Amino acid sequence: MEYRHLGRSGLKISEIAYGNWITHGSQVEEDAAAACVAAALDEGITTFDTADVYAGTRAESVLGRALHGVRRESIEIFTKAFWPTGRGANDRGLSRKHIMESAHASLRRLQTDYVDLYQAHRYDHETPLEETLRAFDDLVRQGKALYVGVSEWRAEQIAEALRIADQMGFDRIISNQPQYSMLWRVIEAEVLPLCEKEGIGQIVFSPVAQGILTGKYLPGGDLPKGSRATDASGGAGFIKGYLQDDILTRVQLLKPIAEKAGLSMVQLALAWVLQKPIISAAIIGATRPEQVRENVRASGVRLDPEIMSAIDEALGPIVVTDPAKTASPAARA
Ligand SMILES: NC(=O)c1ccc[n+]([C@@H]2O[C@H](COP(=O)([O-])OP(=O)(O)OC[C@H]3O[C@@H](n4cnc5c(N)ncnc54)[C@H](OP(=O)(O)O)[C@@H]3O)[C@@H](O)[C@H]2O)c1
Repeated sequence: MEYRHLGRSGLKISEIAYGNWITHGSQVEEDAAAACVAAALDEGITTFDTADVYAGTRAESVLGRALHGVRRESIEIFTKAFWPTGRGANDRGLSRKHIMESAHASLRRLQTDYVDLYQAHRYDHETPLEETLRAFDDLVRQGKALYVGVSEWRAEQIAEALRIADQMGFDRIISNQPQYSMLWRVIEAEVLPLCEKEGIGQIVFSPVAQGILTGKYLPGGDLPKGSRATDASGGAGFIKGYLQDDILTRVQLLKPIAEKAGLSMVQLALAWVLQKPIISAAIIGATRPEQVRENVRASGVRLDPEIMSAIDEALGPIVVTDPAKTASPAARA
């Protein structure tokens, strides 16, 4: 495993991180979750990403139990707030009240005194940015979060957060967590150039497009048993948009390209993401330890320019690039 700085900060993280959205506390049983975390640690993954909202708050508890007993200094724990964690009007968003209450609840569930990175899961149009950034800064000053970051914010929102932090003397955000893969490149036009200039590291999610880039979903074929596409507890709804024959047909064209590079398709997808500028880590999901073991082999791989061009040619028009697709809800959910 190779390790990278998180943006311009002094924090080092594993370039392949492990996240537990959809899996822990919902799609997979607790023993499978623990086995994936054990495999991740064994393979040198030190960075673990979760959120208060995952599996209705259960995912943080599962991760807390799976990491129990691991030397705290050897791992980095990241979590987030924004999406609803309860039915109340204040159980959501990025107000000072919800940030403080949610952060404390996350620390309890994760069984830790601090998280390494605390992230705004989306932009909150209902809270003044200064209020959010001051609350984040307080968490840092209290030692409850070591660094702060955002997720799926637009370039101008990140720029404004940096301007306010500099003006007010708040701790600067050091990271952004956007969706990024060979298929979903909407951050390339605006977010990546700004973040490269400002030293904001990208910890990218769904780098394998939720499993699509493994090549296991065949056009017109049956859905693989036990896969996210068959997960009635929630996963199926999220992957649905990718299950279209034109996408799945093009993805199959990546198979010979991966073979030529001496990689599996999933390793090709991860190596592609890790090669792009200002990427600090790719966060993988996994339902079985074997997936973790296969995917970490992408660490340290460099793809030749011919392989990079062949990928673009194979995927052609199905690649999504529109920067307007980086969006947060107009009102709190
Ligand atoms: N900030 C945000 O808004 C946000 C949003 C989404 C995700 N995230 C973060 O990013 C993390 C990863 O997201 P993701 O789970 O969508 O990532 P992903 O790595 O693109 O997809 C993971 C899924 O693909 C399948 N898969 C992975 N490796 C495989 C292999 N070698 N062979 C076959 N199937 C394989 C598994 O599902 P099956 O086995 O079920 O098919 C696995 O759960 C999340 O856990 C979370 O931490 C953040």
